[in-house]
Amino acid sequence: MTGPLLVFFSSVSGNTARFVEKLGRRAVRIPIRPGEPEPVIDEPYVLVTPTYGGGQGRGEEKGAVPKQVVSFLNNQHNRSLIRGVISAGNTNFGEAYCLAGDIISRKCHVPHLYRLELFGTPEDVARVGAGLEQWWTPQS
Ligand SMILES: Cc1cc2nc3c(=O)[nH]c(=O)nc-3n(C[C@H](O)[C@H](O)[C@H](O)COP(=O)(O)O)c2cc1C
Repeated sequence: MTGPLLVFFSSVSGNTARFVEKLGRRAVRIPIRPGEPEPVIDEPYVLVTPTYGGGQGRGEEKGAVPKQVVSFLNNQHNRSLIRGVISAGNTNFGEAYCLAGDIISRKCHVPHLYRLELFGTPEDVARVGAGLEQWWTPQS
């Protein structure tokens, strides 16, 4: 299988983990509990993250990126290897829908490749699977 490694976060509700599992690719999970050792990644990857924060003011973008993901990306080595972001959310949150992906895209200067709701539809799984294959070119 070609395509990038996936690095993902998923809270106890596990929606994002379910989506990633359905993609059937190599994937590394960022732990839920802050005390757990953070993974150190050694190859380019695409990050998959849910959005939290509940749209507490788009201006402040407060808490939209899960703190575990913020901490993972604060590691300069990990941050240097991100190549794109896929975000999950819920359209009930209106303007804040998938806001975490917008923020990470802007801060890390990588494309926001896809947005999906909850654990994704079969169509999301197919589109992301095909998109990752197509979009990814081997990088050194
Ligand atoms: C407290 C809370 C706040 C949320 N805030 C947002 C939000 O601002 N924008 C959004 O698109 N989704 C929001 N969501 C929806 C989650 O991103 C969505 O349920 C996601 O699938 C959770 O993934 P996980 O189960 O892997 O943690 C929120 C969910 C909860 C429980």
